[in-house]
Amino acid sequence: MNMENKKQVMLSGIQPTGIFTLGNYIGAIKNWEKVQQEYKCLYFIANLHSLTVKNDPKIIKQLTLDSVALLLACGIDIKKSIVFIQSHVPRHAELSWVLACHTQFGELSRMTQFKDKSSKNADNINAGLFCYPVLMAADILLYQANYVPIGADQKQHLEITRDIANRFNKLYGDIFEIPNPYIQKKGARIMSLQDPTSKMSKSDNNPNCYISILDTKDVIIKKFKRAVTDSDTNIIYSDDKPGISNLMTIYSVISGKSIKETEQEFAGKGYGYFKTAIGELVACHLKPIQDKYEKLLEDKKYLQEVCLNGAEQASKIASKTLNKVYKSLGILTKNF
Ligand code: TRP
Repeated sequence: MNMENKKQVMLSGIQPTGIFTLGNYIGAIKNWEKVQQEYKCLYFIANLHSLTVKNDPKIIKQLTLDSVALLLACGIDIKKSIVFIQSHVPRHAELSWVLACHTQFGELSRMTQFKDKSSKNADNINAGLFCYPVLMAADILLYQANYVPIGADQKQHLEITRDIANRFNKLYGDIFEIPNPYIQKKGARIMSLQDPTSKMSKSDNNPNCYISILDTKDVIIKKFKRAVTDSDTNIIYSDDKPGISNLMTIYSVISGKSIKETEQEFAGKGYGYFKTAIGELVACHLKPIQDKYEKLLEDKKYLQEVCLNGAEQASKIASKTLNKVYKSLGILTKNF
């Protein structure tokens, strides 16, 4: 038997709403890269999800392609993983409708992200924003994913995905694999450099809140210098020192040293010294990624090939699931 077929399926998506930050890199993509050998991985750019809030079409289009290039530059390997753009596989939108018909108004109303986003976008509380978790459930269930690496902000969306899948299976037989959260050990949540109580976000209005993985060395060092730290000067990891603890998490993940080793390395050195050191380290780590990214963007033809190839592989799996779904529901397919 082919061992490849035995691998568990891992799937995740990222929205093309900005150049990835150091938070996306440490919290997600670096781990996506690591698990490629062990799992059958699918990674996609969730451009349809981005329609739930108003964005400039030109920018979304550009960022979609940039995001594919960034994934590859960060080490996602198309020989091991399937990389694609969500809108290139129309099955996502199709399954989303079916699942919407099996999701209750009440359960979607309870989603904290919906409540959050609708209070922030009071003039555009569209049905897509409400149905966002259903499209996400379709993304996951189409590929019979066993694991989904997600941050805390998406945990509720995975739970509703499991609820929808279980409900569907109970009604129509064993159609969907029930996905599990894939929890990573370290550095899962990198916080804003200006407000260490909120997550580092690529759509933050203040660029000093995040390090973009395309920032130059000077900018990176400047942003770390400006990072909010705590009132004393000790480089110690502690819950009541969220600023320095966040920086220490970054340092530890990028250097491969433990938090303890980091504390020892900088004992008695002061924040200024540490901030320069972390700036240098991060800039040096990102340089080869930036170089690879620049090269990839020069070769549009190659990128297009990558996208087409990925979409083709993804479509095969997705179509198989959707056919099974339609059959179970009595939705007549063409080959009846
Ligand atoms: N909602 C996710 C986010 O904003 C992106 C996403 C869309 C996703 N579909 C997914 C993540 C499926 C994991 C699985 O971060």
